[in-house]
Amino acid sequence: MKGIILAGGKATRLYPITKGVCKQLLPIYDKPMIYYPLSVLMLAGIKDILIISTADAIPQFQSLFADGSDFGIKVSYSVQEKPRGIAEAFIIGESFIAGENVALILGDNIFFGSGLAGELKKAMAQKEGACVFGYYVNDPQRYGVINFDENHNVLSIQEKPKVHKSHWAVTGLYFYDRKVVRIAKEILPSKRGELEITDVNNVYLKNNKLKVRLLGQGYAWLDTGTYDSLIDASMFIKTIEDRQGLKIGCIEEAAYRKGYISKDKLLVLANAVKTSYGNYLKKILEEEKYAV
Ligand code: DAU
Repeated sequence: MKGIILAGGKATRLYPITKGVCKQLLPIYDKPMIYYPLSVLMLAGIKDILIISTADAIPQFQSLFADGSDFGIKVSYSVQEKPRGIAEAFIIGESFIAGENVALILGDNIFFGSGLAGELKKAMAQKEGACVFGYYVNDPQRYGVINFDENHNVLSIQEKPKVHKSHWAVTGLYFYDRKVVRIAKEILPSKRGELEITDVNNVYLKNNKLKVRLLGQGYAWLDTGTYDSLIDASMFIKTIEDRQGLKIGCIEEAAYRKGYISKDKLLVLANAVKTSYGNYLKKILEEEKYAV
């Protein structure tokens, strides 16, 4: 399975912060925002990843990940010239996808929860159709919202409805079969001029090929779209990391634990970062020595 991280857009809602910097490079506590979605794809076992962003930001992502080999994965890059919609990722990524199944994650989405690996495994095991995740939120009108019938069957997904019929938002993590490229090419731009991911999902739903998995209270799905949610996300990560002494979204650790990189490589990565982040990477190796 291929993986795409969509990390473009203008993020005007965060101006002036994002006037000179791409949103997905902003820090969420101790690491760049994009580390979190990248670590989710790595946790899913996806090793071939395309980052789509603006021409200005791509060199900056390259300075973070290069070709991905430091993390035992393959990272490539494509430009989205204008934010023409999330579904355009599949048109831009067509040759990268090359007829395989593909996972898409938005570069500003942060997921946390101990059951996540299991959920990802189930989504990965679904060979046909699409799989999306629902998350109960207080402010559903800001998202794609899932409408259910009385038997909890999914009736439709509405993009940012004025009147919401449920509190279940569609998160920015999607799994599709190879048909997604054709579907993305067939849908028309919405009123706001974008190829909507919700329209793609509704095509799958109409064909009875959409699986919606609901992430319950044991998960956090964090937003980073406003000044407040940005700092809240940082505080959340800091609180959990301080309490447990474990990091969230640590791609070096993910690479090591997945067996993508060796102990020696992890030590090289650790020594290159002279901060508590680097010390954490060293601690992983140290603690392993004394593990019972
Ligand atoms: O976060 C989940 C939500 O993401 C879903 O519930 C919605 O159904 C979906 O439409 C999307 O809603 P947003 O309004 O949050 O999308 P936004 O335009 O903010 O874009 C999400 C991220 O994707 C953002 O970091 C910028 C990036 N993006 C967006 C577009 C439209 C691109 O890189 N290129 C684009 O063309």
